[in-house]
Amino acid sequence: MVGLWLSPMGDLLGSNMSKSERFQTLCVHRGVAKDSAWNSVITPIYATSTFRFTAPMQHAGYDYSRTANPTRAALEECLAALEGGARCTATATGMAAEMTVMAMFPAGSHIIAGHDIYGGTYRLFSQVLAKNGLEFSFVDMTGDPMNVKKALRKNTRAVWIETPTNPLLNLVDIAAVCGIAKKAGVTTIVDNTFMSPFFQHPLELGADVVMHSTTKYINGHSDVVSGAIISKTAEHGEKIAWMMNNLGTGCSPFDAWLVLRGVKTLPLRMKAHNANALALAHDLEKRPEVSHVYYPGLETHPQHALAKKQMSGFGGMLSFDLKGGQPAAFKFVKALKVISFAESLGGVESLIEHPETMSHASMTLEQRRNAGIADGNLRVSVGIENAEDLIEDLDRGFAALKRSRK
Ligand SMILES: Cc1ncc(COP(=O)(O)O)c(C=O)c1O
Repeated sequence: MVGLWLSPMGDLLGSNMSKSERFQTLCVHRGVAKDSAWNSVITPIYATSTFRFTAPMQHAGYDYSRTANPTRAALEECLAALEGGARCTATATGMAAEMTVMAMFPAGSHIIAGHDIYGGTYRLFSQVLAKNGLEFSFVDMTGDPMNVKKALRKNTRAVWIETPTNPLLNLVDIAAVCGIAKKAGVTTIVDNTFMSPFFQHPLELGADVVMHSTTKYINGHSDVVSGAIISKTAEHGEKIAWMMNNLGTGCSPFDAWLVLRGVKTLPLRMKAHNANALALAHDLEKRPEVSHVYYPGLETHPQHALAKKQMSGFGGMLSFDLKGGQPAAFKFVKALKVISFAESLGGVESLIEHPETMSHASMTLEQRRNAGIADGNLRVSVGIENAEDLIEDLDRGFAALKRSRK
């Protein structure tokens, strides 16, 4: 079985983690022990919209759950520690996190984003925020970070980085892009959803803000939609919390509790996702029906060296192009029995989706082709099942393709 690639950090411990608590310990212990009444081992769900004041102008720390809630605060404390940030705001969804971050920029601001980012992010930027006065440039920042420099304008306020990209698993050199942005006094925001803080620490690489769809790996069980924003500085974190309270984009206590429950096993799950994805990527590379496999853990990946430099593992996401285009992709997914044909990613169960008609359907055909997404591309969120069962399931898909050719 393939081994997990370890960074020079050796033990997958981010350097600005607390020196006394390593990553795995933070996952299990941060944000618990909040119950001073009964000392419950697990953080309770504070299912309350409001809190009694102890006296006029005095409360015990919380007044109204839109503003703050103890269960949400526990999750925020945990995620800030995992990303090495000063403060986290937990949100209702990943998109709510994006909206909260972007609401910080006044009309007339120019934002640079990758041209092959998640389709929902692309839609929010190009169809909602662009109409509200923000200007966007979508550039290929995976090929050459200098494209970011070329796109800078006087009114550029932020660079939005997603790495690895979705669904083609291209990498953005976070340190290089953040260096360019810093020189121009521009804020950098990294969507770290695909890698999770277990495999990638954007704040250490120079980013100002990290956002997550915690719906994915951080929760890991496909039973919640939620998000998070982690700020490097307390000052930015304070502004984000203020904005979240204005917009009402905060995470509910129950969802926060589910995410806190899920995050405890993040290191174990990420190692298993990584090992299985590498096994599937190697298998897919050998299939004659496949024209390309996209996975940063493959030595053939054009940015494999960068992957080893800025990540401490390669993650559980891969995609591949089938030679027969969309008809082949549809036949393939219909034959699968273990891997579910569904959107989303990052759960313990394997999922497969067709970016052309699902996750990236909100892009125009031209935009998809421009980003390199073919109609035969299938994206797999490789789960933690037995790898041989997953490979046997791929066999079913390829057998269906062979049958249809006869
Ligand atoms: C990379 C990435 N960012 C953000 C989002 C949005 O998150 P959510 O669906 O939790 O709103 C997604 C959802 O698929 C995603 O894949």
